[in-house]
Amino acid sequence: MDRLKGKIAIVTGIGSGIGKGCALRFLAEGATVVGCDLDPVAAAATVQEASQRGLSLDSVHPCNLTRPEDVQALVAHTLQRHGGIDILVNAAAWGAFEFIESMDYQSQWKTTLTGEIDVVFLACQAVWPHMQQRGGGAIINFASANAYQALPGSGALAHCAGKGAVLAMTRQLAMEGGPHRIRANTISPALVVTGATQPRLDNEPGFREAVTAKMMIGRLGTPDDIAWCATYLASDEAGWVTAADFRLDGGATAW
Ligand SMILES: NC(=O)c1ccc[n+]([C@@H]2O[C@H](COP(=O)([O-])OP(=O)(O)OC[C@H]3O[C@@H](n4cnc5c(N)ncnc54)[C@H](O)[C@@H]3O)[C@@H](O)[C@H]2O)c1
Repeated sequence: MDRLKGKIAIVTGIGSGIGKGCALRFLAEGATVVGCDLDPVAAAATVQEASQRGLSLDSVHPCNLTRPEDVQALVAHTLQRHGGIDILVNAAAWGAFEFIESMDYQSQWKTTLTGEIDVVFLACQAVWPHMQQRGGGAIINFASANAYQALPGSGALAHCAGKGAVLAMTRQLAMEGGPHRIRANTISPALVVTGATQPRLDNEPGFREAVTAKMMIGRLGTPDDIAWCATYLASDEAGWVTAADFRLDGGATAW
C-alpha cells in the first residue's frame, strides 16, 4: 500500500463521491493529500472519516474553485505546509441539468461551463509552475461518458459541453506539459453512485434500472472503482501515460 509514497497530492471536491474516494485511496497508498471543497461541512466529514481510518487528511475549506484567489490560496497552503505538488486531481465540478428549451443562459449554461471547465483551468494553471519547478507532475481530470454519448431523457446539454471541453483541453495540457514531464490524463466515467447522482437514482422511477442495463458489467460504478484508476495515473507506474482517456464505464459506451 505505498504506490504513492512520498508524493504530495491536491484533490478537489473531497466532500463527496469521486473526490472523496480518491483522497481516501491516495492516503491509503501513502500520499500526502490536501483536499478542498466548497462545502465545509462535507469536507470536514471526510477529514473525520479519514481520521477514523487512522489517516491524516489536510483540507482547505470552504474553497470555491471558480474564484482564482481561492485556488491560489489552496496552492499556497499546500506549498507552505507540504513543500511541493506532485499530483492534481480535479474532481470538483458542478453542472445544471436542463433541456435547451428552458436552459437559462446565465444561471445554468454559463454557471455550468464555469463550474466544469474554469475550475479545471484555474487549478491546472495554479499548480503548473510548481510542477515545472519540481521536474514533473500528474494531472487527472474528469471528462464523462457524456463527452462521447448523448444522455437520453436527461437535460445534459451544458454538461456535455463542459465534459467535452475537459476531454479536449486535457490532451492539449498533455502536449504543453510534455517537455516539463507534466502528464495529463482524463477519466471518463459512466454513472457512478455519488452525492451528485444518488437523488436521481433514488427518486426517478426506472432510472436506476435503465442506466444499469447499459453496463456490460451489470452494476453501477463506485468512487473506489474510479480511485483505483486515479491511483495508477498518479503513480510512477503510469510514467509513459499522458493525453490518454480512460473510459471507466462498465462497458456502457462500447455497445
Ligand atoms: N458521478 C458520476 O456518475 C460521474 C460521471 C461522469 C463524470 N463525473 C465527474 O466526476 C467528478 C466528480 O463527480 P461526483 O459525482 O463525485 O460529484 P459530487 O457532486 O458527488 O462531488 C463533487 C464535490 O465537489 C464540490 N464542488 C463543486 N463545485 C465546487 C467548486 N466550485 N469549488 C470547490 N468544490 C466544489 C462539491 O461540493 C462536492 O462535494 C465531476 O467532475 C463529475 O462531473 C461523475
